Amino acid sequence: MTSSASNEKHLAAAAAVSMIQDGMVIGLGSGSTSAIAIELIGERVRSGLQIVGVPTSTASEELARKASIPLTTLDESPEIDITIDGADRFNDQLDLIKGGGGALLREKIVAAASKQLTIITDSQKRSNPLHGFPVPVEVVPFGLKPLMKRFAALQLSPCLRMQADDDSKPFVTDENNFIVDLQLSQIDAPLELQSLLTFPGIVEHGLFLGMASFVLMGDGAEVKRFDRN
Ligand code: A5P
Repeated sequence: MTSSASNEKHLAAAAAVSMIQDGMVIGLGSGSTSAIAIELIGERVRSGLQIVGVPTSTASEELARKASIPLTTLDESPEIDITIDGADRFNDQLDLIKGGGGALLREKIVAAASKQLTIITDSQKRSNPLHGFPVPVEVVPFGLKPLMKRFAALQLSPCLRMQADDDSKPFVTDENNFIVDLQLSQIDAPLELQSLLTFPGIVEHGLFLGMASFVLMGDGAEVKRFDRN
């Protein structure tokens, strides 16, 4: 990551974290931008902010514990006030591609339970039309082979995600599923693509359509806010 991207992530995360108020239930996103937000939330908690967090991945849970953020679960707190999460790509309609870190299932469950979904990114994530990042699909391992055949027949260029440190083993999600990355050159019709991703064995996919409340994007030394058109 370049230092300017890292700075932009920090600016976006800080802007989102400044909107948190006492008494809120906060969804804690996953990925490098969310990790900055978790660290900043931790600083505010240590200065007296009273909130509870719902992590979207085991990795974020660990970061939140280290940052001294009190945690809760969707069982205890099924309605979340604000979720702050990153994205791999977003367009001007606020359609998102998420799941580069493999946490899309819990991220989408938490986003759907949130009154407000705040997306924080650096400026490299803005993309019209959506392109430059595969669409991750979380699948049940039992159904992998037939799903790969279906995706290939639909010319969706499927690629099973492997572990970063051992490319002989599939990546396994927090929910014990596999991820198939659809390597599409660009997505002109996100809703149409979404309608194809309904075969048995698909648990969830990384297209987040109509979910983001707004995007805070670090851009150089400033933060730009994008609302849905
Ligand atoms: C995790 O599964 C993802 O959805 C992340 O939110 C997304 O990949 C953004 O990650 P970065 O903040 O690291 O770019």
